[in-house]
Amino acid sequence: MEIKTFGVVGAGQMGNGIAQVAAMSGLQVIMSDINDDFVQKGMKNIENLLSKNVEKGKMSADEKGAVLARIKGTVGLQAFAAADYLVEAATENETLKFGIFRDLDSICPPHTILSSNTSSIPIGRIAFQTKRPEKVIGMHFMNPVPVMKLVEVIRALATSEETFKITWDLCAKFSKTPAEASDYPGFIANRILLPMINEAVYCLMEGIGKREDIDTVMRLGMNHPMGPLALADLIGLDTCLAIMETIYRGLADSKYRPCPLLRKYVEAGWLGRKTKRGFYEY
Ligand code: CAA
Repeated sequence: MEIKTFGVVGAGQMGNGIAQVAAMSGLQVIMSDINDDFVQKGMKNIENLLSKNVEKGKMSADEKGAVLARIKGTVGLQAFAAADYLVEAATENETLKFGIFRDLDSICPPHTILSSNTSSIPIGRIAFQTKRPEKVIGMHFMNPVPVMKLVEVIRALATSEETFKITWDLCAKFSKTPAEASDYPGFIANRILLPMINEAVYCLMEGIGKREDIDTVMRLGMNHPMGPLALADLIGLDTCLAIMETIYRGLADSKYRPCPLLRKYVEAGWLGRKTKRGFYEY
């Protein structure tokens, strides 16, 4: 099956990044969100990043125009009736994602593959919401999407070999490297990354170190490009908490207990860069 039209549900930081790499690979892209403000914000972000590429001489102005022309912004899900392959990149909330997959299943033609960019929710639970579980898969991009090379590909129990192969090949088309993970909460990336971030928040809560010192230890001592608290601010503290909750509940193991300080920040609306306040101020 040839993928010509690629849909992205959600125009937020993950969604607009995925739309950008798909359009840069030559695909026609439909990007949607729940209102036009969110769609326009996503489009503006893509335009800004492409303009930077032009300034740096990595892309011509004509190429930038052609990439933007391949992305159609839309509100709601109806336009996905024209999509061959979809990535859902909505907020990390199980009830919300289940509803989206039920709607997509009724709107999209039978051949459309429905993937999710979920950071931790088991793909099998999402697939169960549809009548096409063999065409449901996890396609987990990393933030910032245009820069990060990895895509985690998660095969659920019912995912077909064809769906897996098409997804694997799409990663190469997007100039990304895929890694296969089994369908358990958090998969590989967040099963390892999020407990590290959570532990960094415990270090802060228990006064073991100040935020700068915790981040400096991991940046200079372990050569991480950014410290865990700064990275949590980039990911979004609400997303970090949602992932920890999913792993904690899904594996029923107290070692994944979300740090109370992380919860406190989320309850205060300090969600990281997107609210200009998280572990740091922006
Ligand atoms: N969007 C697009 N491009 C960006 C960007 C963004 N938000 N932030 C930086 N870049 C680009 C810059 O334009 C620059 O491009 P050029 O090389 O073409 O000039 C390049 O990335 C390097 O940026 P900087 O020099 O400004 O800064 P840096 O070298 O410190 O890199 C970083 C920034 C790429 C974010 C780096 O700090 C990094 O890799 N951090 C770790 C990111 C990470 O771990 N991501 C995974 C998060 S977990 C996840 O996503 C999964 C999940 O489910 C939670």
